[in-house]
Amino acid sequence: METLSAETIRRNPAPEGAGVDWTIPQRWSDYTRAEHGIWNLLFERQVKQLRDRVAPAFLKGIKVLGLEPNGIPRFEDLNERLRELTGWSVVAVPGIVPEEIFFDHLAHRRFVAGRFIRTAAQLDYLQEPDVFHDVFGHVPLLADPAYATYMQAYGEAGVRARQGPVLGQLARLYWYTVEFGLMRAGDRLQLFGAGIVSSNGESQYALDSPDPLRIGFDVLRTMRTEYEIDSFQKNYFVIESFEDLVRLTADADFTDIYEELARLPSIPVATRLPTDILFPPNSLRAARA
Ligand code: PHE
Ligand code: FE
Repeated sequence: METLSAETIRRNPAPEGAGVDWTIPQRWSDYTRAEHGIWNLLFERQVKQLRDRVAPAFLKGIKVLGLEPNGIPRFEDLNERLRELTGWSVVAVPGIVPEEIFFDHLAHRRFVAGRFIRTAAQLDYLQEPDVFHDVFGHVPLLADPAYATYMQAYGEAGVRARQGPVLGQLARLYWYTVEFGLMRAGDRLQLFGAGIVSSNGESQYALDSPDPLRIGFDVLRTMRTEYEIDSFQKNYFVIESFEDLVRLTADADFTDIYEELARLPSIPVATRLPTDILFPPNSLRAARA
């Protein structure tokens, strides 16, 4: 399964007990009843919350992957379905992995996930991604063909970028799409970013609060925009569809974009540019009949 070069392995020594590609066994039978209970609680709460807020592809993914409030999923079982649908699989890792390792996994359609789950005291907030964020938040959309293409292409872009100067800007693109992306659906907005979808508070705030900016997605604008990791976002970017996102990123030649990025300054969060297209929160739209 492992696809890394000797160079990459040398630069990124894996911790004790992990493979050279940083993967570890999920050890599903080691999860306690209480841990499965936390999954179920979070799952039920979020599915209810997301029903009329999330991009339909997410709910479809939950369904076709057979995700249920039935305990923490066994990656092996999940992967059987996921592989068949889009060729993606989920692999367990001990925590945050080096960028080079992360990109290589994505480029080969492997999504890295934490195996641990948050405690009952951390239901609403935790610093490091756990199996609920990683699997519930990220994996359903990997069953969507266009999203699956985007994620692989992103991994390939990361591999090409290596330790180079554009890595930080690529990270912003991931942040504002994969983690905190919104999508337009008619005159309303829907969620799809995993960081929002797995958060009870932000899955309300991102659509309904009058505070944050919701800016029409533009590759250059997004890659110039700084982000904050310790609060709800102060700006979100709104895509039209996953197909459109693929067209603007995976199918586009980034050579010119990288060149422009090198010349342009970063944009602080919560900045309005005259060229921005802004969307109002759903709460200011008339309720749908
Ligand atoms: N198509 C981009 C390039 O030419 C790579 C890319 C794909 C970047 C997907 C971001 C997301 O380098
Ligand atoms: Fe994430």
